[in-house]
Amino acid sequence: MRIEKITENKKQFLDLLLLADEQENMIDKYLSSGDLFALFDGDLKSVCVVVAINSETCELKNIATYEKYQNKGYGRELINYISNFYKSHFKTMLVGTGETPSILSFYKSCGFEMSHRVKNFFTDNYDHPMYEGDIQLVDMIYLKKDLSK
Ligand SMILES: CC(C)(COP(=O)(O)OP(=O)(O)OC[C@H]1O[C@@H](n2cnc3c(N)ncnc32)[C@H](O)[C@@H]1OP(=O)(O)O)[C@@H](O)C(=O)NCCC(=O)NCCS
Repeated sequence: MRIEKITENKKQFLDLLLLADEQENMIDKYLSSGDLFALFDGDLKSVCVVVAINSETCELKNIATYEKYQNKGYGRELINYISNFYKSHFKTMLVGTGETPSILSFYKSCGFEMSHRVKNFFTDNYDHPMYEGDIQLVDMIYLKKDLSK
C-alpha cells in the first residue's frame, strides 16, 4: 500500500471525489488550493483533499473510497496518514459532513469529536436537495481532531 501527494492533474480523480461531494463546482472551490492524497493498493482505492484554514487549523474537505473497496480500512489508513503528515503544521483538523450516522461514526472511530454545526449549509450552497440514503442533508456537522494526540 502506498499514499502519494498528488500535485498535477488533480481532476483525474474526479470520479472518486464526486462520491463524497456530488457537485463538481463545489469540488472546484477546494481542489486547486488543497492538498490531494491518493492511496494505492495495487490500483487506486481512496483519495482525500485537505486545505489550510488558518495557521492552527486545516480541514479535510473530501475523502472517498471506491464503493467495492469500502470497509476494508483504506479510509482509516488515509486519515492516519494525513493526521501524521499535518501534526507538525496544525493543531486541529476539521471535517464537515452531513448528519449521516454512519459517516459520523466513521469519523469518530478515526479520532474526531463533535465540534459545531452550520445551519442550512446544504440547502443554501447546493443547487439541488442532497440525500444520503433516505436522509436529506440540511446542516453541516463539523467534527474536529486534535493532531497532537
Ligand atoms: C466514508 C468512507 C470514505 C470510509 O472509507 P472506507 O475506506 O470505507 O473506511 P474504512 O474501511 O477505513 O472504515 C473505517 C471504519 O469506519 C467504519 N465505516 C466506514 N464507512 C462506514 C459506513 N458507511 N457505515 C458504517 N461504518 C462505516 C468501518 O466499518 C470501519 O470501522 P472498523 O475499523 O471498526 O471496522 C467511504 O465509506 C466512502 O467513500 N463513502 C462515500 C463518500 C463519502 O460519503 N465520504 C465522506 C463525505 S463526508
